[in-house]
Amino acid sequence: MKRTALISGASSGIGRETARIFARNGIRLVLCARRADRLQALQEELSELTDVCTLDFDIRDREAMTEALQSRPAAFQEIDILINNAGNAHGLDLIHEGRIEDWEAMIDINIKGLLYLSRALLPAMVERGRGQVVNIGSIAGKEAYPRGNVYVATKFAVDGLTRAMRQDLLGTGVRVSAVHPGLVHTEFSEVRFKGDHEKAEAVYQGYRPLEAVDVADSIWYIVSRPGHVNVADLLILPADQASATLVDKKTDT
Ligand SMILES: NC(=O)c1ccc[n+]([C@@H]2O[C@H](COP(=O)([O-])OP(=O)(O)OC[C@H]3O[C@@H](n4cnc5c(N)ncnc54)[C@H](OP(=O)(O)O)[C@@H]3O)[C@@H](O)[C@H]2O)c1
Repeated sequence: MKRTALISGASSGIGRETARIFARNGIRLVLCARRADRLQALQEELSELTDVCTLDFDIRDREAMTEALQSRPAAFQEIDILINNAGNAHGLDLIHEGRIEDWEAMIDINIKGLLYLSRALLPAMVERGRGQVVNIGSIAGKEAYPRGNVYVATKFAVDGLTRAMRQDLLGTGVRVSAVHPGLVHTEFSEVRFKGDHEKAEAVYQGYRPLEAVDVADSIWYIVSRPGHVNVADLLILPADQASATLVDKKTDT
C-alpha cells in the first residue's frame, strides 16, 4: 500500500533530501516549510516520481499550521509518516549574553512546532492503528556543548519527548523514533550565524561532515523497516566526529 509522509522543513537540507529519497521509493509527499518557492521547485522536481502537495506556513504559528493542514487536498488527508524535521539553531552566544528573540525562535520552532504538528496528526494515526513519527534531534540533545545552551535544551526536549511519545503510544500501532545527527553540511550554520557565509562554511572545513543525504538515508532506513521493528534512537556522526565538541579537524585541509 502506498504511504503518505508529511515532512516539516522540506525546503532545505535534511528535509529536502528526505523528500527526494521518499519520492524515489514511491512515498506520497506533503512538503512543509515557509519558503513556498523552494517547496514548489521541489514539487516540480519530484512530481514525476510521486504525488506531492506543498503547504507553506510558519511552524510557530499554530493557527496558520491548522489552516494549512485543513487546506490539503483530500488525497493527502491520511498521513502515515510524520517527519518532525523543521528546526534550527539561532546564535552561538554565552548564556548570559544570549538574545531573547533567538531563544524564543528555537523554543517555538524546535519544541513547540514539533508538538503542534504531532498533536494535529497523531489522533488519526491512533484511530487507524498505524503510523510512524520520526523526530529529528541532534547530538546536542545527547550532550551539551559550550555556547549551545538553548539549542541544546531544545534538542534535549526532542529526545525526552520522543521517549515519552513512545510510551504514550505503546499499543496504538504508532511507532516513534528519533534520529540525532552530528555535523551535517546544510544551511543550518547559515541560519545560526544569521547569513554570515564565511563563519558558516568554517564550521565544515578541515574534515568531512555528513551531507544531508546521509541523514535522509538513515531516516529512510527507519521508515522502511517492517511493521514489527522500531529503530527507536539513531545517533549518526561523521567518521571525523566523536562527540559534540571532538572533531578531527586537519588544519591544512
Ligand atoms: N545541520 C546540522 O549539523 C544538524 C545537526 C543536528 C541536527 N540537525 C537538525 O536537523 C533538522 C534540519 O536541519 P538542517 O540541517 O537540514 O537545516 P536547514 O538546511 O537550515 O533546514 C531547516 C529547515 O527547517 C525549516 N524551518 C526553519 N524555521 C521554520 C519555521 N519557523 N517554520 C517552518 N519551517 C521552518 C526551514 O524551512 P524555511 O526556512 O523555508 O521555513 C528548512 O526547511 C533541524 O531540526 C536541525 O536542528 C541539524
